[in-house]
Amino acid sequence: MDAGLEETDLGTRVGGHDVVDPGADPDERAIEGALRPKGLDEFVGQRVVREQLSLVLDAAKGRGHTPDHILLSGPPGLGKTTLAMIVAHELGVPLRVTSGPAIQHAGDLAAVLSSLEEGEVLFLDEIHRMARPAEEMLYVAMEDFRVDIVVGKGAGATAIPLDLPPFTIVGATTRAGMLPGPLRDRFGFTGHLDFYETAELEQVLRRSARLLGVPLTEDGGWEIASRSRGTPRIANRLLRRVRDWAQVRGDGTADADAARAALEVYAVDAKGLDRLDRSVLEALCMRFGGGPVGLSTLAVAVGEEPETVETVAEPFLVREGLIGRTPRGRVATPATWRHLGLAVPRGTQPDLFDAADDV
Ligand SMILES: Nc1ncnc2c1ncn2[C@@H]1O[C@H](COP(=O)(O)OP(=O)(O)O)[C@@H](O)[C@H]1O
Ligand SMILES: [Mg+2]
Repeated sequence: MDAGLEETDLGTRVGGHDVVDPGADPDERAIEGALRPKGLDEFVGQRVVREQLSLVLDAAKGRGHTPDHILLSGPPGLGKTTLAMIVAHELGVPLRVTSGPAIQHAGDLAAVLSSLEEGEVLFLDEIHRMARPAEEMLYVAMEDFRVDIVVGKGAGATAIPLDLPPFTIVGATTRAGMLPGPLRDRFGFTGHLDFYETAELEQVLRRSARLLGVPLTEDGGWEIASRSRGTPRIANRLLRRVRDWAQVRGDGTADADAARAALEVYAVDAKGLDRLDRSVLEALCMRFGGGPVGLSTLAVAVGEEPETVETVAEPFLVREGLIGRTPRGRVATPATWRHLGLAVPRGTQPDLFDAADDV
């Protein structure tokens, strides 16, 4: 367990240290922690969300109140957890961490909520995966700062209302479309994180290289940034792989040659697509003739969960115009065929992007 994390069934309390994706391996967790910006001014890119968020926080601080509840949405690795920690840091309050999958009963949520102290920030990661009864309890807690604790069972059960001190929920989700309307409505501010520009990722990489003590050249930074799928987490990960290559086969400097050689070893192509991305595109073109094919059929073909294909691979592929979403399913575009080095079949529609949300 990382220093500063105190794991209890009331959620994890973070003492000014770090929160990491519990699924990540220990090496990755430690490094993510070390590289995470602590304050809003260190957070690169996302200009709009940063400005909106700083207004929300400054206004709340000025009034001496807790800010409205905050929802952060966007694909994995773009900085949702980092921003949640920044919110607590900027407010100078502790952050309590739990996640949707950890809350399977309303009682789990009641325990966390009733232990919150005044002004605390509760980070609810993967909020779209919370159980339905807990969701309903959350509505009341967010709006009226109250939980109803059920005592006893069956006909004799009574609900004892318990008032809560004011607190702020920061919810994070990779699938804002899956949140029920009433829950979404209870967040006073929603920030949608989008993929980063290459220049912004270069900035992230320069900062990380400095913190890790890796000599990174300008062209090395650009090469890694342009193959990072617009995602800081991937940029930081590739930087570590390039550092390994430079240390073992090069002269220790992460330059463009080291970056190209290392990324070839790790099967990251010129656009930054990884194995999963490419297998999705290959299945789409080679097994389904360019589609349309349903998400779950496509997921089975690549041996992944539909949610993984939809939240991890697809957003970037859609943004790059490498996959089209239509009401009848996913389709290849001319760019898909070309990226795979295949001839574009006649009749391939060029402009069917994102016609259907959350199919
Ligand atoms: N805007 C940013 N500036 C600098 N580093 C960032 C930024 N966004 C994310 N990172 C880095 O990327 C990694 C993943 O970010 P994280 O907040 O865990 O993403 P998410 O919770 O959205 O999956 C972290 O190690 C963090 O240091
Ligand atoms: Mg996260």
